[in-house]
Order: sequence, then C-alpha cells, then structure tokens
Amino acid sequence: MESNNNSGYFASDFKKILVSEDEIEGIICRIADEINRDYKDKKLLVCGILKGCFIFMSDLIRKIEIPVEITFIKASSYGSSSVSAGAENIKVTVFSELENYKNYNILVVDDILDTGNTLCFLEKYLKDMGFDNINFCTFLDKPERRETDIYVKYIGKQIENEFVVGYGLDFNEKYRNMPFVAALDEKVYD
Ligand code: PRP
Repeated sequence: MESNNNSGYFASDFKKILVSEDEIEGIICRIADEINRDYKDKKLLVCGILKGCFIFMSDLIRKIEIPVEITFIKASSYGSSSVSAGAENIKVTVFSELENYKNYNILVVDDILDTGNTLCFLEKYLKDMGFDNINFCTFLDKPERRETDIYVKYIGKQIENEFVVGYGLDFNEKYRNMPFVAALDEKVYD
C-alpha cells in the first residue's frame, strides 16, 4: 500500500512538488485572515468556480470566522483541456438564484488564474446581473500567461508557467485529489 505522503500519489507522473501541504495551510490562514478583516460586518457570498475550486474553497471557508453564504458557478470552456479558451467560449451554469444576493459582497474563488479570461468573463457577467461589489481570490497565479488585466485581490501563490496538478487542479480529470500541488512531467501530457 502506498504511503499517504508527498511521494505516494502518482509519484512517477510529476517532476516536483510546488506547494506542499504545510505551505497550503499557511496560505489558507493568511488569506482567511485578510477576508475576516476585510468583510467584517458585511454580507458575504463566496462563489466557487467549479470544478477546480472545490478543495481550496472548502479549506478556505472553514477558516472564515464571519457569517458567510456559499454558492457555485460552473464555467466551462469549450475545447481541449490543456488550452485556455477565449472569454467568448465560456458557458456559465449557476447553482443559486443569484438575484437574491444583489445586496451581498461577492467573493469569487477559483483554483488558478491563468489567462484571466474566465474571471474577466465572470466579472462582466456578475456586473451585468447588478452586483457592484465583486472581488476575486485564486489559490495559484501564473502571471506569465495573463491575457487580461483582471484584478485579483487575494492570491495564494504565484508560480512559473508549468503544468500543475493537485489540490483541485486536474489533467484529464486526474490528480484533483492530491493534497499538494505538483508540476506534471511532460511525458504525461506530450
Ligand atoms: C481552469 C481553472 C480556472 C480557469 C483558469 O478551469 O479552474 O477556472 O481554468 O483559466 P483562465 O485564467 O485561462 O481562464 P477549467 O476550465 O480547466 O475547468 P475545471 O475547473 O473544471 O478544471
């Protein structure tokens, strides 16, 4: 049986660990502290972008100590799983009556900021719905890949332009369950 440590999960598929479980814990606490401070006495709706957000958001909201409601949006890009689509190719599915939250501050949570097309699209989508207090939070950020000027207030960690998996991030739907973030070996996706 494989051990539940950083070498046990699909170890031959990745090159190196980029964000360890200990580092993740520190990142979560730092961002949650900022959110607890910034949204004190405000109505807060945390909106996760499926699927990638699910582990990060679960950890984050359990460290938020102010009243919070949660919902999800599924933002699907059409096309290959390894190439980000332009904003015009994004299909949105909502899981709550967002109209009921117009007087809330909305914090959109995602696993990774890449080109920024997804969040740019969602910012316009939510503004068009009437939300006027929107902020973004992503666990990872790949600044080299940016194609938009989206402002993300809370960022866990900036990383190089590598193919990363784990902690919610997938390649062909695999690896999301790894409790750390690793760079995938080229042999897996070439
Ligand atoms: C990923 C990720 C972000 C988006 C970021 O989602 O979860 O939502 O891409 O890319 P961008 O900044 O270039 O728009 P993906 O479409 O892979 O779906 P998933 O969350 O279901 O894995």
